[in-house]
Amino acid sequence: MITIQCLVDNCVQHSSTLWGEHGVAFLIDTEDGRLLFDTGQSGTVLLHNTAQMNIDLGSVDALAISHAHLDHTGGLADFLEVCRPNLPLYASEDLFRPRYAQLKQENRSIGIDISQEELSKCLNLHLSITPAEMLPGVWTTGEIFQRTEFEGRSPRHGIIVDGEWQPDPYQDDFSLVVETSQGLIVICGCCHAGLLNTLAHIQRLFAGDILAIFGGTHLSSATPEMLATAIERLATLGKQGSPRLYLNHCTGEGALLALSQAFGDRVRACPAGTVMSF
Ligand SMILES: [Fe+2]
Ligand SMILES: [Fe+2]
Repeated sequence: MITIQCLVDNCVQHSSTLWGEHGVAFLIDTEDGRLLFDTGQSGTVLLHNTAQMNIDLGSVDALAISHAHLDHTGGLADFLEVCRPNLPLYASEDLFRPRYAQLKQENRSIGIDISQEELSKCLNLHLSITPAEMLPGVWTTGEIFQRTEFEGRSPRHGIIVDGEWQPDPYQDDFSLVVETSQGLIVICGCCHAGLLNTLAHIQRLFAGDILAIFGGTHLSSATPEMLATAIERLATLGKQGSPRLYLNHCTGEGALLALSQAFGDRVRACPAGTVMSF
């Protein structure tokens, strides 16, 4: 059995004692181990929510980081205080590139705030652009190279190359794939590479239907035309109209509404505290 728990999200369930913040973290349990995917924006929320959910972060067997942005890596420093030493960390080779958001004419740093050197003292770093099997049947997608469809971009996100500001190519962005007997489960962090690009990449590399999609799909900035394309494509993936969608973080309320209108109860919000088993 595979169990997926949302530990951190922008939202929490009604009457929940969990805390919300702009960020995301998931816990994935299989018969072979426990994986943490992203750490939310702050250790404060990650540690509070896991304590409320009776989850011991010292039992995590591997960590994966979807991309460098602080709303996914901000809880890392506090996680290092409670995790096992030399835990494997799976991330892109481009994770440590400085990244910025342009706010009021200023470039604010929004990349990971721990250096590769510091992190390598505590964790066993597996940095790669190719897919990595972290637990049996639990993979990173590796870098999403082909991006023929729209991407999950923000015009404010950038990198500095030779002193010049450039749009962030989000080379570090990846998602996870969990192989189950019923099909593939996709878990996205922010999906800056683009949801449709990510799904096409997964279909090229992995066998089986896509059963469910979790996480941040960055459809918050999608135009109505982009949303219509996403709905059209998702409808071709599932036997019953769409994979099951458990969406949160940067998906956007408009996208969630449009997807719900298209696919009914196959679409659910996925606030912190959500637990799903397959
Ligand atoms: Fe991001
Ligand atoms: Fe994000």
